[in-house]
Amino acid sequence: MRSTWRGQARWIALGLVAAVAVLGFTFIGQAADQLREIPGITVADDHPNGCVDCHKPDSKYSLQAEVTNLADAGGHPDVASKMKEPADCLMCHESDGRLPMGEIMHVAHLTGGAENHFISGYDGECMYCHSLGDDGSIGVKGLE
Ligand code: HEC
Ligand code: HEC
Ligand code: HEC
Repeated sequence: MRSTWRGQARWIALGLVAAVAVLGFTFIGQAADQLREIPGITVADDHPNGCVDCHKPDSKYSLQAEVTNLADAGGHPDVASKMKEPADCLMCHESDGRLPMGEIMHVAHLTGGAENHFISGYDGECMYCHSLGDDGSIGVKGLE
């Protein structure tokens, strides 16, 4: 009697192992079908112009408005009226200067966790600013 019970338990255990294996393969299969959505790489890029697609000229989030806010908060030179396009920022935020554009942009958009609207609203997506060239080079939209 006792050995029969053991025999059944072994079959039940085997059945469980098989069920778990089938479930596992199903999930792995789904993961392979669902590629991460990376703008311009696995899906169409809905912000092909970078900065100005979000900081639309003449909107309350324009680069001029952002610079005015920074100036009002204290510290930033009040140069909004001279800023026509993102490349204009480089006159002070050059890559070998004290406040390189890359670093101030990464701090502004990629720090602070969910409090940061670029993280909560745009998944902190690198490729909304960066671009991938045919030769594999990484650039910044609007600064190339
Ligand atoms: C996909 C949308 C998006 C793109 C592209 C983008 N930004 Fe932003 N930007 C945001 C959001 C959202 C915030 C607000 C972040 C926060 O909650 O503090 C922000 C904040 C800023 C700020 C304010 C920083 C501060 O300290 O107050 C500046 C300046 C700025 N962006 C400039 C730029 C520039 C220049 C580029 C291109 C190199 C750029 N942004 C690209 C969405 C974007
Ligand atoms: C005339 C020079 C000048 C120009 C042009 C300029 N900046 Fe700045 N920026 C500064 C200085 C100086 C600081 C440091 C301010 C401070 O220490 O509080 C700064 C700081 C910043 C910071 C960091 C603020 C912080 O508190 O962390 C951001 C973001 C920024 N600038 C964005 C921009 C953007 C975007 C543009 C172009 C639209 C731009 N700046 C153009 C001089 C400039
Ligand atoms: C808001 C726009 C923005 C976002 C988002 C962004 N970058 Fe950048 N990144 C820049 C800019 C502007 C530069 C400076 C380019 C230059 O100086 O010509 C830069 C430069 C860089 C550089 C060169 C080194 C440096 O710091 O200058 C690396 C590496 C880089 N980014 C990686 C990333 C990665 C990884 C992410 C996502 C986690 C990211 N970036 C997201 C705007 C952005």
